[in-house]
Amino acid sequence: LNYNVNKERRYILQVLFNGLRRLEYRGYDSAGIAIDSSPARDPNTSQCSSISITPPPLIFRQEGNIESLVKSVYQEVAEVELNLEESFPTHAGIAHTRWATHGEPSPRNSHPQSSCAGDEFLVVHNGVITNYEVLKETLIRHGFTFESETDTEVIPKLAKFVFDKANEAEGDQVVTFSQVVLEVMRHLDGAYALIFKSRHYPNELIACKRGSPLLIGVKELRENMVAGSAFEDNYSLSNNGHPQEFFISSDANAVVEHTNRYLEIRDGEVVHLKDGGVSILKFENDKGKNGSSHYRPASVQRALSVLEMEVEQINKGHYEHYMQKEIHEQPESLTTTMRGRLSRGGSSKLKTVLLGGLKDHLKTIRRSRRIVFIGCGTSYNAALASRPILEELTGIPVTMEIASDLLDRQGPIYREDTAVFVSQSGETADTLLALQYALDNGALCVGITNTVGSAIARNTHCGVHINAGAEIGVASTKAYTSQIVVMAMLALAIGGDTISNQARREAIIDGLLDLPNKVREVLKQDQEMKDLAKLLMSEQSLLVFGRGFNYATALEGALKVKEVALTHSEGILAGEMKHGPLALVDENLPIIVLATRDACFSKQQSVIQQLHARKGRLIVMCSKGDAALVSTGESCRVIEVPLVEDCLQPVINIIPLQLLAYHLTVLKGLNVDQPRNLAKSVTTQ
Ligand code: G6P
Repeated sequence: LNYNVNKERRYILQVLFNGLRRLEYRGYDSAGIAIDSSPARDPNTSQCSSISITPPPLIFRQEGNIESLVKSVYQEVAEVELNLEESFPTHAGIAHTRWATHGEPSPRNSHPQSSCAGDEFLVVHNGVITNYEVLKETLIRHGFTFESETDTEVIPKLAKFVFDKANEAEGDQVVTFSQVVLEVMRHLDGAYALIFKSRHYPNELIACKRGSPLLIGVKELRENMVAGSAFEDNYSLSNNGHPQEFFISSDANAVVEHTNRYLEIRDGEVVHLKDGGVSILKFENDKGKNGSSHYRPASVQRALSVLEMEVEQINKGHYEHYMQKEIHEQPESLTTTMRGRLSRGGSSKLKTVLLGGLKDHLKTIRRSRRIVFIGCGTSYNAALASRPILEELTGIPVTMEIASDLLDRQGPIYREDTAVFVSQSGETADTLLALQYALDNGALCVGITNTVGSAIARNTHCGVHINAGAEIGVASTKAYTSQIVVMAMLALAIGGDTISNQARREAIIDGLLDLPNKVREVLKQDQEMKDLAKLLMSEQSLLVFGRGFNYATALEGALKVKEVALTHSEGILAGEMKHGPLALVDENLPIIVLATRDACFSKQQSVIQQLHARKGRLIVMCSKGDAALVSTGESCRVIEVPLVEDCLQPVINIIPLQLLAYHLTVLKGLNVDQPRNLAKSVTTQ
């Protein structure tokens, strides 16, 4: 939304499209935008009245990715001869990229969703409205007809209903845009981040949220603006006549190229952008004299924050794909993860680990009856990779929970438990709900996320940021290795210093500090993994066998191949081989066996022999120098990787598998960064 800026339509479209491109990893099955059809009137004269309603906005919605939307807009723009040079002193546009939850990807199910013919209220939505069926029935009874299969469509229709009712009651036009939205919000259940645009309120936008993330970037276009000005204070954010632009987004990625000053929107707040200023309203529980609750809107003051993110972080640099970039930047991301947290110490000094976000809670964690790891997808796998070292160094039982399964079972969580929530985005709906469940059950909740300010970071009692930098590729790579490193540090921090484990601790700390170098070394196997991918690209299926520290590597390697290369792939606990999976083995099915040196090495050697006896088609990953010990002959391919401390070996071993998944995908001509049907952060249940 820009005020007093005189920007051309060309610029406005570009800002919206670029913003969507930055968010595309969140969902990419359909997209849409709504822009003003002609310069909206001067805000001073634009009384919001149903009589003085502005012309309908231009709405474009398209199935497919952002580029299909861009193409269709420019085609239609040409068709209707919309002037790209036309300039707007004030303009409010909204845009959305979708990951379908209710209703197939199609133009009519894309956002913005509309109130009715005439498009008086438009809404873009991230999340799920759980009571939409009840609302829909009520609205249908009041004469509304629905065009889409989305849950979102009830929201603009409810806004129109509330607006009409309020105006009927109040006579001539007094209801404000924020009053309408506050009333709408009162009726919505579920998780949402919403932006409203209306012809009744030209040059205004409303943003609100519950559960899903949302922020506003603020760019003041005043010349020579100096940092440390009034913006730093609890500033009312009125523009004082200076031209301003506001960027509302569910991810800082879409904002950072315009400004690094932002305002975080909190649950239950209604943020109103009007006349170049921002006001925030929130319902407050106002206890009446008789003790009864009365909710009234109250205004909220908030200072701007500064985004700690560089535009370069969200560009591909010289890489072709984000996944490729993120795999190759792991030496740097791991270094950042450990920065300031480990010290090697001199010969006389103890090697130490400092996790600032946990230091006040370590005692409580040490006293816990058990540690429960909770996560989804790759984050779950990272926790699984870390379980053995946590058990070894702390002696506390560690159990694993997939967030949705914990919720399905309503599994027992106790006050004496420490529940550790692992999530790259910090916004995954299943993990968030499991967090609420654990909080309700009184457990100490620890968050391990990559996103400062995310819902999981905010709602846990304490935690550690993995600081891996923005991860854009839908398949998680660098966040996985950083999560494992953080959890190894967590094990060291909880385990504390005892004489008996001192040598082990020191070896792990040395191993951690040297890990980026070892990762650099293993990344040199890129070409080797590309060759292997050529060999495997037409396979229908692939198995990965691992155990001990590398059971998680088997699951995660298989997940990577499945997610991006769309090849069926299963990670199997090698100890279970004889209890079923062996039946699948023949001379055709490729099997990767993880057999790097650790306490399970000799057991893995037997697994290799048993697979070989069934003519298994083997690819064995082993430690450098062990090729002769694991190879079963000419047809057996061997991947040799650097040997590191056993608990850190999963960081090394996953990298060839990440590279394999990447190359398989590219060779198959598939979309690496946006695999079919998936989304980076799944903010719906
Ligand atoms: C989605 C992503 C996965 C990710 C999982 C958990 O399924 O596609 O890559 O591992 O969510 O996400 P989180 O942000 O909680 O780690």
